[in-house]
Amino acid sequence: MSLHAPVIVDARATHGPSGIVRWLQGIGIRQVRLVCGLIMFAYIFSHFFNHALGNFSYATMEAWLRFHVWWWRIPVVNFALYAAVTIHFLLGLWALYQRRHFRYTAIEITQLVFGLSIPLLIASHFGIVRLGGLMFGRDLPNYAAPLLAYWVNRPYMMTVQFVLLTVAWIHGSIGLYFWLRLKPFFRWAGPYLLAIAVLLPPLAMTGTHRGAHEVTALAAQPQWRTENIKVTPPPQRAAIEDITLYYFPIGYGAAILLVFTARGIRALVENRRGSVTVSYPGRKVRSPRGLTILETSMRFNVPHASVCGGKARCSTCRVRVISDRAALPPPSGREGVR
Ligand code: FES
Repeated sequence: MSLHAPVIVDARATHGPSGIVRWLQGIGIRQVRLVCGLIMFAYIFSHFFNHALGNFSYATMEAWLRFHVWWWRIPVVNFALYAAVTIHFLLGLWALYQRRHFRYTAIEITQLVFGLSIPLLIASHFGIVRLGGLMFGRDLPNYAAPLLAYWVNRPYMMTVQFVLLTVAWIHGSIGLYFWLRLKPFFRWAGPYLLAIAVLLPPLAMTGTHRGAHEVTALAAQPQWRTENIKVTPPPQRAAIEDITLYYFPIGYGAAILLVFTARGIRALVENRRGSVTVSYPGRKVRSPRGLTILETSMRFNVPHASVCGGKARCSTCRVRVISDRAALPPPSGREGVR
């Protein structure tokens, strides 16, 4: 509920109608972001599982990779993946713009910082394994070339990849945790999911490490090398690196800067628009027009139950407005969902 007039609130629940219509009305930006996140999580799960198969052998990795590539390159699936990445990224920037306070918990700030760092960490990997194919038609989706490149030619990239793997997995796992922790089945499923969440990254790392050693040995055979390693011509590599190491980071930094500039402009506009008084039991605060009651509570450090952090998943932040409600806008679809 955006505030545009003085209100007095009481942190007790209100009730509203229920049903499929209200559920549909409750679909908002966060739900779209969740679906996008789930698509991306499915991708990285399959990808990291693929890495982990290297603990058996390099051949096993390549066998699963064929299935992995087949599935994710079905046109509609491929489109869904890239759309999900784009939308999730844009909605992340939008969430950063929308955030009205910076009282993050440790787990929230971890997810935010990790989420913001993923595009920078993944840029060069995306460039070498995918952008080259898209730009120059040089596409040989196998493990051999990247493993040889990272483990032999540029060993520091091994560290970058392990950091990326860890950061992406933790970011996705936190998102899943925030979503699932309120589900009834999470009580019994939680320990199993935690075990998977903890075990998969190290298994993926040891798998790629073992696979890289096999590839290094195989690459000593000239014929195997010719058949499996496609070297990127220097001009193409330079073009890819210009994009991933230069233009993309600049564009990404500019996008973040734009978000904070927009936040500053919004603060100036809100100051000119004036504020409203929110009266809690025993306390009054002046809040800029347009903030929700929960955002007002967080901004002024007023204790306010909010299990999901205002993501419309739990309803613990509901309040009863006990002043005149005539000047308030009607509850939005998400606010009305029980
Ligand atoms: S719906 Fe408001 S905190 Fe969860």
